[in-house]
Amino acid sequence: MKNKKGKVYIIGAGPGDWKLISVKGLEKLKKANVILYDFLATDELLRFAKKNARVICVGKRDGMHLKEQHEINKLLFKYAVSGESVVRLKGGDPFLFSRGIEEALYLKNKGIDFEIIPGITSAFAAPASFGIPLTRKGRFSSVAILTGRKSNGGKIDAPRCDTLIYLMAIGNIKKVVNAIIRSKRDKNSSCAIIERGTTNGERIVTGRLDTIVELAERFSVQSPAIFIVGKIVDYGKRIYEHKYNKR
Ligand SMILES: C[S@@+](CC[C@H](N)C(=O)[O-])C[C@H]1O[C@@H](n2cnc3c(N)ncnc32)[C@H](O)[C@@H]1O
Repeated sequence: MKNKKGKVYIIGAGPGDWKLISVKGLEKLKKANVILYDFLATDELLRFAKKNARVICVGKRDGMHLKEQHEINKLLFKYAVSGESVVRLKGGDPFLFSRGIEEALYLKNKGIDFEIIPGITSAFAAPASFGIPLTRKGRFSSVAILTGRKSNGGKIDAPRCDTLIYLMAIGNIKKVVNAIIRSKRDKNSSCAIIERGTTNGERIVTGRLDTIVELAERFSVQSPAIFIVGKIVDYGKRIYEHKYNKR
């Protein structure tokens, strides 16, 4: 055992294109002795790991958990306390619909040194990759980022604001759309589903609130994808028309 405690870096890997990790995040990744990564943290980043680094997948996807959260916390502690430089690599930003805060609180309680290195969230990057801004001066000024899946089947939120961005909504798209329509938003509202945004396999399906469920089925949209609702969606085609024609 080394006589000095190590440090944990909780790093956002970015939305999918590996080059969208921060310079700081990549620096820490290259030096790490141990890397614990999620499915959503892009695999290409792992080639930057040191040859002798211990690289462990602790991903959770569609109800399949390679490791439960308490096991991940324990691994972070185990390696840090034995003096290692540990990277916890998480998809997008580690604090947005991610359990970065739970890991940080656990480490804090255990007296382990840690640092949070933010990442570019898919909530912003996937729309940007299709030319969709989230706001526009003087016209669209409010954005809500929401989950399309609540634990124990809880009520889906649909607040009154210009743009709604749902993560984890695809398996539950019908329920999400119904919640939005119940909130009195016009059924003709523009919306889009963006699948694997910023990657080579990215894809967009655009429609209206009353057509999007059928379109999602027709084009077999898969996770990871975001669902974006609001007039702002209409800008995308003007910016990157070529990206909208391939499906
Ligand atoms: C558990 S959340 C983690 C979000 C992540 N922390 C972030 O900031 O992007 C997983 C959800 O993020 C969204 N997501 C992640 N990567 C994506 C991508 N490249 N394109 C579209 N949506 C993505 C999907 O909605 C997916 O179900």
